[in-house]
Amino acid sequence: MADFAIIGAGLAGISLAHKLKLAGHTCSVFEKSRGLGGRLATRRLDAWQADHGAQYFTATSPAFSSEVGRWLDKGWIKPWTVTPWLLTREHLGPSPDQQERFVGIPNMNAMVHGLAAGTQLYMKTRIDRLEADGDQWRLWDEHGEHYGNYDAVILTAPMAQSQALLPTEVINAAMIGSQTMTPTWAMALAFEQPTGIEADVVFVKDGIVSWAARDTAKPGRPQNYETWVLHFSPQWSANHLDASPDLLQQQVLEVLERLAKAALPNIYQSFSHRWLYARAASSEPVHQWHSASGIGLAGDWTQGNRIEDAWTSANSLAAILLKAYA
Ligand code: NAI
Repeated sequence: MADFAIIGAGLAGISLAHKLKLAGHTCSVFEKSRGLGGRLATRRLDAWQADHGAQYFTATSPAFSSEVGRWLDKGWIKPWTVTPWLLTREHLGPSPDQQERFVGIPNMNAMVHGLAAGTQLYMKTRIDRLEADGDQWRLWDEHGEHYGNYDAVILTAPMAQSQALLPTEVINAAMIGSQTMTPTWAMALAFEQPTGIEADVVFVKDGIVSWAARDTAKPGRPQNYETWVLHFSPQWSANHLDASPDLLQQQVLEVLERLAKAALPNIYQSFSHRWLYARAASSEPVHQWHSASGIGLAGDWTQGNRIEDAWTSANSLAAILLKAYA
């Protein structure tokens, strides 16, 4: 049985820990923030909440679809049945499709919490150095504390952060040198009164904002205020990394006013969040396991940029590790 260290408590890290633990291995998960789930994120405020990271997820592969079935049975997620709308410069209208979409209940990270049960978690622990000790690894955090030794270390953080920890030979073998991730600004608002907007979900094309959704249209959300979440396009976000809350709010209100075709009610509260590493720009698969050094890579960015990709990366690395450490 092997001792694994996993860096990052997002869906990739936690589902990998879950699978390795089921097979009898020991796993410790290190996470720099206070919460589980990474970009599967929900913020709670005064009598309202909003999903400011991933908005929903879909399932395409049979393996992920059956995992989603298990999450449904556990009550961690529910289908989000909506008719999307499309907003372009000239047009606004429904854009119906057959896509099945899912959200966590009552928060986007509910399934990550479910899968993490019984896993050794080190929260608020930022690992900033890996030290080789024979054929094992010792981990050092930013305060000079050390952890381990571990037989293998799995990095799941967005690429730019993982790269800083990786030995050069692993970077070369994984061929990750040229991969980049693009940012996304998110803004969430709670209105004092209903907005009267007909659409619940709006894909925005060719705009500064790329997505607008009524968060209170998702199942299992508190209904005290009508809430909206908007995401800005990767291009605009990259060009306005230091955008002020006022600038963000002004852009958001322009879109919502177009959707409402009327003046909007007063805003009760709002917040913005910058996802510096929101989505991988390329979906070229990354080589996930470097056996000579005992270092693995997982995370959506190793295969694409969706929640399914995060889970698939953990599933495929788990298969490799269970063989390597049988
Ligand atoms: P999906 O298959 O529902 O949508 C993929 C893309 O197709 C959408 O972004 C949208 O541009 C378009 N689309 C889908 N249905 C449409 C409709 N009925 N009418 C018009 N356009 C439609 O979802 P998928 O691929 O599973 O991704 C989930 C969501 O997460 C997507 O919205 C995706 O863009 C978004 N995403 C956002 C990231 C960010 O950083 N903001 C990162 C990764 C994904």
